[in-house]
Amino acid sequence: MKRLGVLLSGRGSNFEAIADQVAVGRIPAEIAVVISNRPEARGLEVACARGLNAVCIPSKGMDRETYDRLLIRELEAKQVDLVCLAGFMRLLSATFVRAFPQRILNIHPSLLPAFPGLDAQKQALDHGVKITGCTVHLVDEFLDAGPIVLQVAVPVLDEDTVESLSARILTKEHFIYSEAIRIVLGGNFRIEGRRVVAVAPTA
Ligand code: GRF
Repeated sequence: MKRLGVLLSGRGSNFEAIADQVAVGRIPAEIAVVISNRPEARGLEVACARGLNAVCIPSKGMDRETYDRLLIRELEAKQVDLVCLAGFMRLLSATFVRAFPQRILNIHPSLLPAFPGLDAQKQALDHGVKITGCTVHLVDEFLDAGPIVLQVAVPVLDEDTVESLSARILTKEHFIYSEAIRIVLGGNFRIEGRRVVAVAPTA
């Protein structure tokens, strides 16, 4: 059974959606550990309540390399196969990315490469785009930049606020994150340049 490590910093709704899919067997894996860099993260409480292995490694005041080495140690100790960033509000170092080559996923609430970084939904509204969405991508050393595994488009309505748009995008996030995890765990893809291309499963 493949082992997932989930990293979060806050609400943890994407983590919950993943945990639900794991629980019903639609993601063929187990959640080996949930790590938060913030002690107050709701996602950490949810993980505890679900009886999962929930760990807080506070990042406050720690330099990136030192912190990331702690993360690597914890994830390796739990023999994690795939790292899922689910609202983890920290940039990861090259050291971390190299420790899990093509084995780190992130979800972002826009159609990347549009609107990377913070407040992507507000960026989309402010820019006046008519379509935005969400993206699951493999993580490289740059912000919201690695090869794209899945995207879903979400229309922007005239009456949208940041809250209403974020809520509609979030529903899609919860769906595509689990799908992307299934694709990556299944291994039936190869990376050509920046493109994640499906390959037929071997018989
Ligand atoms: C989501 O919008 C995700 O796309 C972004 O951070 C937010 C996390 O929400 N990276 P949650 O903690 O999963 O509810």
